[in-house]
Amino acid sequence: MTDPKRRRLLKAGGALLAAGSLPLSLVELAFGKDRREHFSFAYLSDSHITHVRGREFVRNWDRGLIRAVAESNLLDPRPDFIFYGGDIAQLGKPEEIDHGLEILSALRGEVHHVMGEHDYYLDLGEHWRKRLGPDHYSFDHKGVHFVVLNSILTFDDWTYHRWSSAAERMHQMARLDNPQGSPFMVGESQRAWLKKDLDTVSHDTPVVVFSHSPLQKIYKGWNFWTDDAEQVQALLQPFDKVTVLYGHVHQIQYNQIGNISFHAAMATAWPWPYPSSYRQQAAYLPKLTVNMNRADPFFERDATGWQFIDLDSGKVDVHYLLPGNRNRVVAWDGKAGHPVDTRYQAEADRIPPQTHY
Ligand SMILES: [Fe+2]
Ligand SMILES: [Fe+2]
Repeated sequence: MTDPKRRRLLKAGGALLAAGSLPLSLVELAFGKDRREHFSFAYLSDSHITHVRGREFVRNWDRGLIRAVAESNLLDPRPDFIFYGGDIAQLGKPEEIDHGLEILSALRGEVHHVMGEHDYYLDLGEHWRKRLGPDHYSFDHKGVHFVVLNSILTFDDWTYHRWSSAAERMHQMARLDNPQGSPFMVGESQRAWLKKDLDTVSHDTPVVVFSHSPLQKIYKGWNFWTDDAEQVQALLQPFDKVTVLYGHVHQIQYNQIGNISFHAAMATAWPWPYPSSYRQQAAYLPKLTVNMNRADPFFERDATGWQFIDLDSGKVDVHYLLPGNRNRVVAWDGKAGHPVDTRYQAEADRIPPQTHY
């Protein structure tokens, strides 16, 4: 807390909180003894821009993204870059992707993107790639190795041979609890690419991986799931400090598997209930995750929020600033060896999660 840069950032976070609900994450990284390479980035995700007809789009989802863009432009100090976690579009239409990118074009700073299933299953990512480039790549920034993966692929048979039209395929993948659905995966060729990419990185370099689906198995019915998660985790296993940041789940989740910390981003569009409140199939919400409560289900922004994430020497602290709900801090606990929800860990402190079904 003594770092003046960090104080400024937190101050900015407080000012933003006062301004309202913030579906935006700010990620701060600090590495090295003298912390000269201290830096931060912002994280937006899941705007689900929905085309109605002509020039008309669902207004609420537009407003969520417009607000997140405006608020990320107010951050001081400026984040080094902005990351978008996928699902720009609702049904993968070029007009939805274009409309979302038009809103995002107001962002000050370089933007990196990850592919969401709602961006992919209409034209298999053709328009997205035309606008944004490759769907998997890596880059180095101030001593940290960043990896972007497309984790929403599935079996070729399902993708290429099952459906009478591209629109039908998109609708099938967009449905929840769909017996005709198919699990997400990173896939063999991307895993081979990842292995080669990581071969050139020393094991003491902090690695941050961006995916759309969680690179762990939580709830198959809603594809809070990546079928080859264990194989991807095995490739990350040799590194001392690994963090996976993902979108898709529209809620707070955190976990620790071996050396890998996992943190989910909240959506700019809407919050999902926790799968544990909707058990049609087995759910494996990480034991570490203490559910956030949706205090007012009729307030569309409740259970969305703003995340401030510190990576101090590769260990992650997340500050959740939640409108209409108590703020929370998930901090790395060195003794426990995993992230701990410092305020909500004790049973007596928790607000019980609501069940709506
Ligand atoms: Fe989403
Ligand atoms: Fe998604």
